[in-house]
Amino acid sequence: MADNHPATLFSPYKMGKFSLSHRVVLAPMTRCRALNGIPRPALAEYYAQRSTPGGFLITEGTLISPTAPGFPHVPGIYSEEQVEAWRSVVDAVHAKGSIIFCQLWHVGRASHPVYQPGAAPPISSTNKPISSRWRILLPDQSYGVYPQPRPLDASEIPQIVDHYRQSAINAIRAGFDGIEIHGAHGYLIDQFLKDGINDRTDDYGGPISNRCRFLMQVLKAVVSAIGAERVAVRISPAIDHLDAMDSDPLRLGLAVVERINNLQQELGKRLTYLHVTQPRYTAYGQTESGRPGSEEEEAQLMRTLRNAYEGTFMASGGFTRELGMEAVAHGDADLVSYGRLFISNPDLVERLKLNAPLTKYNRKTFYTQDPVKGYTDYPFLSGTNEPISRL
Ligand SMILES: Cc1cc2nc3c(=O)[nH]c(=O)nc-3n(C[C@H](O)[C@H](O)[C@H](O)COP(=O)(O)O)c2cc1C
Repeated sequence: MADNHPATLFSPYKMGKFSLSHRVVLAPMTRCRALNGIPRPALAEYYAQRSTPGGFLITEGTLISPTAPGFPHVPGIYSEEQVEAWRSVVDAVHAKGSIIFCQLWHVGRASHPVYQPGAAPPISSTNKPISSRWRILLPDQSYGVYPQPRPLDASEIPQIVDHYRQSAINAIRAGFDGIEIHGAHGYLIDQFLKDGINDRTDDYGGPISNRCRFLMQVLKAVVSAIGAERVAVRISPAIDHLDAMDSDPLRLGLAVVERINNLQQELGKRLTYLHVTQPRYTAYGQTESGRPGSEEEEAQLMRTLRNAYEGTFMASGGFTRELGMEAVAHGDADLVSYGRLFISNPDLVERLKLNAPLTKYNRKTFYTQDPVKGYTDYPFLSGTNEPISRL
């Protein structure tokens, strides 16, 4: 920049081919309002409420196949009906001037026979279940124990990779501007990455290069289908959500970054961004998550990955207005994604800009199915929650 003013959350940013007018991103968040896996009009309203001209939104984790779910009423992007239904959501967001990426999700072992075709055990890298420290939300809103998963045979992996590829194509067909691969928070891809889970002895387990193999195969398949400039990756090397521990999170994070950098060099193109969850994040409103580490260690991990990655870096996890401003001003992040604050403040961008008071979120309605309550009824500063009239 020609002047001495550091960037702020409200400075424009060129994210690959997309011109953003600010750096406040809607983090991907599961909200369980897509009844029977179909995005309903409530989703269009929810995302439109959080759209701003030149803003950037990432959808909730969106299922790549019938074996992918581990929460009730999560949307998919593998059937024609789902693709068609997403189109209205994307159109509503585009009409408000935002860019929107679809987050592609498979939960792996973080599922239950109740969510699986034929009540089968969920699939994973391993046959080790998630410990009883964690509970799974069941369709009747009660909590259950995670069951024993079935480890995927190596011969089955190409088919799963293909589900990601086909879902990415479907997302573009639905009008999305791109996709984010969910490689974080203890779900299927993370179950391959982390040595605290992955106990395989084949080409997908053991050394770090083998543990990165599944992610890289997914990434390459998706990039060859829709182009690197429409693809992003999310990782959380230092988050132990759902027992996703690694003995050396920094080394793992750097290994992923190095492989993405190499791929970018081979292609002569960059991904849209790399999204990393900061360990200080207290996950999902119930259980303390994140590796115990000092703030300094956490900042160091994020900074090291940021400096190593050749491209746009998005940080997430426990950001307030002040922390977001600092991260951008110090160059620790190009973009900051906000989760829980964006649930309860549909006009978060405006509120942060004005330094206006924020509405508190209600955890009890994070994963309920009511299309309005705790979903689209959080107030706007202007005193209305009618997004259409606020254009
Ligand atoms: C209700 C809820 C659902 C979430 N669902 C997802 C998800 O589907 N995919 C994902 O990558 N992260 C998910 N997250 C994590 C958020 O993207 C974000 O990283 C996290 O909330 C930390 O940011 P915050 O402190 O600003 O809330 C979820 C978080 C919450 C609170």
